[in-house]
Amino acid sequence: MHKITLPANSLMLSKDFVYGVATSSFQIEGDRKGRLDCIWDTFCSQPGTIEDGSNGDIACKHVEYYLQDVELISSLGVDAYRLSISWPRVMNEDGSVNELGMRFYINLVDVLLQRKMKVFVTLYHWDLPQHLEDKGGWLNRDTAYAFQRYAAAVANALGDKVHAYATLNEPFCSAYLGYETGIHAPGKTGVGNGRKAAHHLLLAHGLALQELRQLCPNSQHGIVLNFSTCHANTDTEQDKQAAKWADEYHNQWYLKPLMDACYPSVIEKLSNEERPDILEGDMEIISQPIDYLGINFYTRTVYEANEKNWFNVVPPVDTPLTAMGWEITPDAFTELLVDLHNEYTLPPIYITENGAAMNDELIDGEVKDDDRTEYFHTHLNAVNEAIEQGVDIKGYFAWSLMDNFEWALGYSKRFGIVHVDYETQKRTIKQSGNAYAELVKSRINRYISGIK
Ligand code: FCB
Repeated sequence: MHKITLPANSLMLSKDFVYGVATSSFQIEGDRKGRLDCIWDTFCSQPGTIEDGSNGDIACKHVEYYLQDVELISSLGVDAYRLSISWPRVMNEDGSVNELGMRFYINLVDVLLQRKMKVFVTLYHWDLPQHLEDKGGWLNRDTAYAFQRYAAAVANALGDKVHAYATLNEPFCSAYLGYETGIHAPGKTGVGNGRKAAHHLLLAHGLALQELRQLCPNSQHGIVLNFSTCHANTDTEQDKQAAKWADEYHNQWYLKPLMDACYPSVIEKLSNEERPDILEGDMEIISQPIDYLGINFYTRTVYEANEKNWFNVVPPVDTPLTAMGWEITPDAFTELLVDLHNEYTLPPIYITENGAAMNDELIDGEVKDDDRTEYFHTHLNAVNEAIEQGVDIKGYFAWSLMDNFEWALGYSKRFGIVHVDYETQKRTIKQSGNAYAELVKSRINRYISGIK
């Protein structure tokens, strides 16, 4: 499998469909000295939190190499680049703008525009300034207002040079992994903490959206949510109910407030102490219209009921897995997109992340990652299938441009379509990167030769 192909009549082969690559600040930037500390710096410094004991101090040295990295992205021929801004790089502790930090992103956006790429900016990809965490982080309602001020500062600096802003990336991960199970920064635990953090994150989204709309009326504004379809382990009513609770708790908890101004019914299963404090007007702020929804998808999850009438994850057996141990389930991707489309009146969708970690080997300067190419092939075809079933999908971003810091798994997992040698910082386009570039370029050739 060296090629990614789509059906000849696919809308995804038209020039309007946006193809991009995605990264995030903490995962690639390095240059810790150029910014304040964030919750991931602190988390990484605690023993046992990161599988390989690593941190983001150096990462892919993107701050140093950004010009070369933009050349690299441009060489792939993609239409767009999705990046995130490091809040602790652009804002000082007293709330003023760190001009040098902001300059980095202004320059980055400018070179991307010179290269004729659309810029997709995410404001929060998990790197909360540590000084805000010291005051309670996302458990503190004030953090939502600090986020609003930060969003306004970025909007003032970058304006509508940015094609699309996303307020948050995957609030599920920030809230559930960061404040409920503690496997991500800041490592807090408890159902009440997770739910409270989620509410403040959604509030932050709504508050920031007001600023973005006003300051950048010509850009698109949205949010990025991750979904894993929830499947019952058996046909029993108990397991089916468990999968439904899991879907409401992990997926709908973040989408329903945006679309329907309320939390899903699973909230009634929580005690009063576990429920978030919802103040008057919050749900209206949260549910303002968005121009697009960013969807991240990697895999499905299977659930069974447990004795507490709640849900447990059933680990996959005997199915193809990625290096993350995630099941490879392109059909679930189509199912997800079609189900969401049927359940809600959604704005246009961008697939803002999709991809796979594989056990890559760099041999004689080449990474022959057929398995990743195959993953992209099947998942792009799954997106195509959803479009054919009527879902309005405008673009697709491969996660990730290059290997990077994979959170609690450190540098041990590689998601890039470009290989990074962390000793030398040499970038090598993998076979999957070439296949992706070929797909994108074939589309342009088709356009030029008048087929579409
Ligand atoms: C997503 C994150 C991204 C990356 C991928 C593999 O949940 O948004 O930063 O870690 O998973």
